[in-house]
Amino acid sequence: MSSRKRPEDLRSHRWLGVSDLRSFGHRSRLRQMGYDGADFGAKPVIGIINTWSDINACHAHLRSRAEDVKRGVLQAGGFPVELPAMSLAEPFVKPSTMLYRNFLAMEVEELLRSHPLDGAVLMGGCDKTTPGLIMGAISMGIPAIYIPAGPMLRGNWRGEPLGSGSDVWKYWMEKRAGNITDEQWNEMEGGIARSFGTCMVMGTAATMMSISEALGLTLPGASSIPAADSNHPRMCGAAGRRIVDMVWEDLTPDKILTTAAFDNAIKVHMALGGSTNAIVHVVAMARRAGLKLDMQRFDEISRQIPVIANIRPSGKYLMEDFFYAGGLRALMRELKDKLDLSCLTVTGKALGENIDGAEVFQHDVIHPLSDPIYAEGATAVLTGNLAPRGCVMKPAAAEKRLLKHRGPAIAFDDYNHMAREVERDDLDVTADHIMVLKNAGPKGGPGMPEWGMLPIPAKLIKAGVRDMLRISDGRMSGTSYGACILHVAPESYVGGPLALVQTGDEIEVDVPARRIHLHVTDAELARRRAAWKQPPPRYTRGYGAMFSQHIGQADEGCDFDFLAAGAPTPEPEIH
Ligand code: FES
Repeated sequence: MSSRKRPEDLRSHRWLGVSDLRSFGHRSRLRQMGYDGADFGAKPVIGIINTWSDINACHAHLRSRAEDVKRGVLQAGGFPVELPAMSLAEPFVKPSTMLYRNFLAMEVEELLRSHPLDGAVLMGGCDKTTPGLIMGAISMGIPAIYIPAGPMLRGNWRGEPLGSGSDVWKYWMEKRAGNITDEQWNEMEGGIARSFGTCMVMGTAATMMSISEALGLTLPGASSIPAADSNHPRMCGAAGRRIVDMVWEDLTPDKILTTAAFDNAIKVHMALGGSTNAIVHVVAMARRAGLKLDMQRFDEISRQIPVIANIRPSGKYLMEDFFYAGGLRALMRELKDKLDLSCLTVTGKALGENIDGAEVFQHDVIHPLSDPIYAEGATAVLTGNLAPRGCVMKPAAAEKRLLKHRGPAIAFDDYNHMAREVERDDLDVTADHIMVLKNAGPKGGPGMPEWGMLPIPAKLIKAGVRDMLRISDGRMSGTSYGACILHVAPESYVGGPLALVQTGDEIEVDVPARRIHLHVTDAELARRRAAWKQPPPRYTRGYGAMFSQHIGQADEGCDFDFLAAGAPTPEPEIH
């Protein structure tokens, strides 16, 4: 570890510690806010990047949690300043929060760079906020610690635990089949989200919060604490204390985010049966850290690591149960022989020290490696002539009969086309058909919306069908399930082979062999390609136009080309 910094080495010293005209202005403006020399000067300035907003239920508590962080920073001799950042509430932000993940990453990076900050506390948890915060912090490179918002309490309906998203999809299907009344549906609406905090299944939020802990970016155990548990504000205070020391130690993200740390995170992802969305985010974070990581690494690791967390949508329980069962520390301890325990973390200690002594208290929630929920392949990466650069699937969440299947395609040009067709009672479709949705990718969506769990056609639902093979270049919510093949790269909008699929074409999916094949001759595909025309762009101005021009494909992590790489950005001039 680097030697401790001196006060004059602090980044904020350039703003506050020198004696010139500009620093006079900086100090006088702090004094204008009621601070004096006892509050600032020769102290690490800690930026608390808070994604709280009035329209983000997952982060409702982060407004007061920031005060817990400040308390910790003050106790440790730092000077806390809170800066708001884009909130990205998954349920409300349209067309997709994924359109704005990079916006948040850019905002975080520039907030940290442009202000006199020595360290950062990143507060988030709702799906895209975690990667957005972390990507920005990696690119800026000052010491940073992540505070996961934590999952909300279990949902409840007539004594049944309800899981965010997963049970909505399940019961919506039953409502479409006529098995759930309007009154029952209304009761569920009032019972599924009982407290602040993120979705409490192993969706994208819980997956990304856990991955952040496995990477070493949170205090030990932080990602599993329910948002409403008093352990949560205590963790926030501790993170506030710790970041001050991290600044003195110059413990920057590049010292934590190594290839071994990313391998640990992917292993944890597999053991959790985590969200497919995490692949895009982890690839993007690794690339920000200057590391090479591709989708095949996920497939390699998924073959080595079984699913041992029995959490919906792949399993039975919810995140609150996971916490009581010992949480992520206990799960990582169960995996200890598979992890690189020497990886450095924000505690300044190795991962192995952080999980030392952790125990599993409920073995049906966190299974032993010797008795997994699913032996291997939580996430499968398939390739073939339909997805030359890969696509992903979560076999654990699909009906087994569909893991090896050949059937005719029913192709939809875009989301609206699909949404109209699936409600038709005379749609020519059977349970053996393979539904194909085009133009749901990073450029085509645009923003790669979570349309990948295509609704089962109404007439099949009424006939009792609950799963079908579905293929798209979009994503699906981490709370979703079913035989959905996602992230097809290259996407159809840029002329990927998915664009050439026509209704009636035979498609073959072989998950054990990791293969996806469109049974159409090369000559016919060439003929279709020559006739193919790219749809017009949705956005011709503003952020959307910039997004469409610079967004990368799913296998590259969907980062902007100008953010993912390039020479280091210089520190701002202070004049
Ligand atoms: Fe925020 Fe699911 S809606 S985590």
